[in-house]
Amino acid sequence: MIYSEKVIEHFMCPQNAHSMPDADAEGNFGDPSCGDYLTVYIKVKDNHIDNISYLVFGCSASIATSSMTSVMAKGKGLDEALKITEEDIIEALDGLPESKVHCSNLGVSALRNAINNYLVVKRMEDSYENSNS
Ligand code: FES
Ligand code: FES
Repeated sequence: MIYSEKVIEHFMCPQNAHSMPDADAEGNFGDPSCGDYLTVYIKVKDNHIDNISYLVFGCSASIATSSMTSVMAKGKGLDEALKITEEDIIEALDGLPESKVHCSNLGVSALRNAINNYLVVKRMEDSYENSNS
């Protein structure tokens, strides 16, 4: 299997790979077919991803794609970050071998899950505040 230099770079030196105890939200995604699993943590400021990190249990491609997902999402507005696709991640990594294409789904799905969890809690807090003002 041939990996691009970018994939190897992100696998050898993953960016933002740590937990985040004070995260505003977290999201999870697991691939049942291979057992790989990812948790994404986000910190949100002014509707933007102020900080992002993750813990991943998986193959080299899932580590590289998680790393690239975090790099691409950092600083983006929540709406923009929700639009990041598997293809965007693969393209930014200069491609993935065919058998590893599904690994790009982990980061994207866990990121969307984290953002959606954040939005659900925020909506609940907002409606609570409105009903008490
Ligand atoms: Fe499980 Fe990727 S197949 S580590
Ligand atoms: Fe399943 Fe990599 S082999 S996520």
